[in-house]
Amino acid sequence: MTKRYGTIFFVGISLLGLSQNPIAIPTALTGTTFDLTLQNGTTQFFSGTATNTMGVNGSLLGPTLIMNEGDNVTINVTNNLGEASTIHWHGMHVPAIADGGPHTEIPDNTTWSPAFMVRNFASTNWYHPHLHMNTNKHVQKGIAGMIIVRDAEEAALSLPRTYGEDDFPIVVQTKGFDVNNQIIIETALDTTLLVNGTKDPYLDAPAQWVRLRLLNGSSERYYNFGFSGNLPFKQIATDGGLLTAPVDLTRVMVAPGERAEIVIDLSALQGNTIQLMSYGAELASGIYGAAQPGMGAGQTIPNYALNPLNGANFTVMDINVVAPNANPVTSISAALTTHTPWLEANADALKTLTFTPQTMGPTAIEGPFLINNTMFDMDVINYQIPLDNIEVWTLSNQSPIGHPFHIHDISFYILDINGTPPPPNMQGRKDVVHVPAGMGTVRFITKFENYANDTLPYMYHCHILTHEDMGMMGQFIVYDPLGIKEVQTNYKLYPNPSNTSLFFESAFSNETYILTDQFGRKVFEGNLMSGSLHIDIGQISKGIYLLSIPEKQIHSRFIRN
Ligand code: C2O
Ligand code: CU
Ligand code: CU
Repeated sequence: MTKRYGTIFFVGISLLGLSQNPIAIPTALTGTTFDLTLQNGTTQFFSGTATNTMGVNGSLLGPTLIMNEGDNVTINVTNNLGEASTIHWHGMHVPAIADGGPHTEIPDNTTWSPAFMVRNFASTNWYHPHLHMNTNKHVQKGIAGMIIVRDAEEAALSLPRTYGEDDFPIVVQTKGFDVNNQIIIETALDTTLLVNGTKDPYLDAPAQWVRLRLLNGSSERYYNFGFSGNLPFKQIATDGGLLTAPVDLTRVMVAPGERAEIVIDLSALQGNTIQLMSYGAELASGIYGAAQPGMGAGQTIPNYALNPLNGANFTVMDINVVAPNANPVTSISAALTTHTPWLEANADALKTLTFTPQTMGPTAIEGPFLINNTMFDMDVINYQIPLDNIEVWTLSNQSPIGHPFHIHDISFYILDINGTPPPPNMQGRKDVVHVPAGMGTVRFITKFENYANDTLPYMYHCHILTHEDMGMMGQFIVYDPLGIKEVQTNYKLYPNPSNTSLFFESAFSNETYILTDQFGRKVFEGNLMSGSLHIDIGQISKGIYLLSIPEKQIHSRFIRN
């Protein structure tokens, strides 16, 4: 698939020059053990001097990790950068110890090996560094990659899902470069657009339904995606997985950190070239990428007006529609999944997070920004949340620029944006949401389930990485009010709750297991011969129990209901 077709029939609106480079499709890694090496390298973006970059198993970006729901995975992250970093699994629901936030530093020349069971629904997630005050630097230099989670529900649907053939990772980023072709970490002159690290990219896509996994991996810029000619497409998934049904759209705004999976029918377009565009001219004021990044002309960012991408419609990549594959997907399932959001009436707690600039006045838009008048402090836990709490968070933006709010650990459902229920394509599970500038308000509901850790926090922050690095971040622990410490790693205990059978699966063998009730009394004890176990809990009374494998320091809570 290297041949190009018919570009002369479409006048490019590209501000970015010719789309002359075939898009890189990152290598896909599958299985349950993933080996990632963070390394320095160089990349030839321009003629002349090569650019110093950072990558994972290469000199720029990293492989796509494909995981299956229910698998116990181990990721070995070796840091060869010559400086400390971290790797966070953005969007993945994992124990705090495996989350890769700023407290989980990977010193240079060491390997960090988090292990966790994949509990996400089929979805598009990603990984990136998260070292405090260096997140933007390491991401800008090139460390980021996609994570695709697959599950049985999604696998049963009629959707394109052959990686690199009809299902494409699309990681969109902008960067600024100095006269020596080196990446400028902090600049409003992020004039160079890269897709999967490719400058001026084109994608050869088959004339059939194709799926694009749009990931905004930019440090600041929002994209307002659409296709040339306003070709219609369908959004099928948000950050946390499938929507109830495909949503017909001609535009989808994707904020930094956010994902949108879309499908488009190219079957009638063979031989044509279309453009994936960002219609930045349509972005409302107060969004990085719009003509005005602030609410009014008085609030702007130095050099922002000089960047031709701002407020402009521009080509993200050309799509050359080539011959269809042998067995194309010819229709898209009309129903995708079911959602049963938690009910506000069942909320255990309400929180309000207010975003303000540290200093009011003409430079307020440049930050730093505070959350509830507080700047991030590694040593301060901002919230202690009981395990299984259902909470409603109100995000109130009293600053002149929009902020993409992100929270680790959980996904949430948006209740309303400025008082209005979200549009259908935002009614799925989310972990990033744009909070509009100038008194904009977003409310969401979530549940802090499965993982508790008394000491190691999860983060919430603005995903504009300059804002995050300047301290627009906070942290929370999820603790177990029953005082039971869960260490959830490489095993599976299900169903939970249950009133009949309980299954335990692990890679261990010949270990003693003990079942205790909530008062610490031993209910029974046995031997885990082959790593898996079927316990009949029909006879024990209702309540909360702990299944422990003392030798492995495993203590997992379950409920007999
Ligand atoms: Cu994508 Cu805390 O980050
Ligand atoms: Cu995250
Ligand atoms: Cu922000």
